[in-house]
Amino acid sequence: MSKNNVLVKQIWENPKKFLDKEVRLSGWVRTSRSSKTFAFIEFNDGSCYKNIQIVLTDKLPNFSELENIYTGSSLIVEGKLVKSEGEKQAFEVQAKSIEIVGVSDLSNPIQTKRHSFEFLRTVPHLRPRTNTFMATFRARSIVAQAIHRFFENKGFTYIHTPIITSNDAEGAGEMFRVTTLDLNKLPKTAEGKINYSEELLGKEAYLTVSGQLAVESMCFAYRNVYTFGPTFRAENSNTARHANEFWMIEPEIAFADLFDDMDLAEEFVKYLIKDLLEKAPDEMKFFNEFIEPGLIEKLENILKDDFARITYTEAIEILKKAKVKFEYPVKWEDGLQSEHERYLAETVYKKPVFVYNYPKEIKAFYMRLNDDGKTVAATDLLVPGIGEIIGGSQREERLDILTQKLKDHGLNPDDYSWYLDSRKFGTFPHTGFGLGFERAIMYFTGMKNVRDVITYPRTPNNIIF
Ligand code: 4AD
Ligand code: MG
Repeated sequence: MSKNNVLVKQIWENPKKFLDKEVRLSGWVRTSRSSKTFAFIEFNDGSCYKNIQIVLTDKLPNFSELENIYTGSSLIVEGKLVKSEGEKQAFEVQAKSIEIVGVSDLSNPIQTKRHSFEFLRTVPHLRPRTNTFMATFRARSIVAQAIHRFFENKGFTYIHTPIITSNDAEGAGEMFRVTTLDLNKLPKTAEGKINYSEELLGKEAYLTVSGQLAVESMCFAYRNVYTFGPTFRAENSNTARHANEFWMIEPEIAFADLFDDMDLAEEFVKYLIKDLLEKAPDEMKFFNEFIEPGLIEKLENILKDDFARITYTEAIEILKKAKVKFEYPVKWEDGLQSEHERYLAETVYKKPVFVYNYPKEIKAFYMRLNDDGKTVAATDLLVPGIGEIIGGSQREERLDILTQKLKDHGLNPDDYSWYLDSRKFGTFPHTGFGLGFERAIMYFTGMKNVRDVITYPRTPNNIIF
């Protein structure tokens, strides 16, 4: 818009370059305060977490309009960057002219007072203008980019898997239906059943619960691949860590086993933490101070130490000996409840822990049967404060066993014929995992509710906009 246009981020990165020079900023009022002849505006232009202070005097022709300018108003400011007298910031802008681009009035719910997260969830379109959400959604962006960089550096191929699918990748029946049929006038077959051949796509369709099966067949061509996209689960879980729409990162690696899988997952999580600490120091300082005291130290410790690894059977033994009263009894055949997972990560290990080799009955059909005939080569990564953030497994590469496992899980092998093809045409050992993106962001930022790390969360009874 003008040659002097500068971003606040550029100023804080190299204030000396702009010192005593004219700058032109565009952005929004965070707060303002005034005396008779002076006013101060805390100004944020979205380019970085930090604000910059704008100083106004009554020499400005529109001073009377500006001295009570409300939070959220958009401005174009021209002035000189100077050293600040105040203790708090080293630099400020002495305004020579300020254009009010868009006034925000007092009905804007985002005002200087502190709001509860519950209230802010009712205004998802406005909450990124608060410190907490500005920091959180930027962390999302930084971690998303780090994910691609991690896999790119390792030579993985990025695969786009479909969002609309006819397969239940987890076989758990938690899929949202996608239909073009008129629900009030469903077409019927001669037998009185719904005639899905009248669907636009020609048959029943759903939103994907996981890109895994689709990405697995790409692993057969490209060796090491990953997908990173939205996934949907129609589960009625009203908890702080379940969303009905969330993002997942799913790598799949060829000629590799469950231990290679855990190695990759550990390296991956550590890379993301290291990158976020480096790229978002201001945001991380904020989280450390206001959201989870001790967060930075926690994350730095994770980088220094190996993750723990125990078998599921060992985990059950530890839980049985635990001197705490769990709400759910500990039983080998029942699997782990969230309270058990958290006890292992928080009380026993106090760091991330891989639990592996789970009972075959409680895990998905595609996981590789171990030689004991009772367990499968599956692993969950459990972390303090959250529980499971990763679920992974070595895949069953043997056609006969996989076909039998589909049947054992009550699934029809005919529905998975395309998936079975890969086991017929050049099968090989391969392994992969899914990292829940929101759970990772919660872990890295200290944010305690999945509803507060997604811009527009979708959870039971909750779809705003
Ligand atoms: O353990 P899950 O169900 O594993 C899979 O979907 C496999 N197909 C992954 C693979 O091997 N390629 O889900 C993986 C992760 C979980 O560990 C959790 O972090 C996250 O996805 N997740 C959810 N996050 C938020 N809300 C939900 N409802 C979630 N369900 C799973
Ligand atoms: Mg899981």
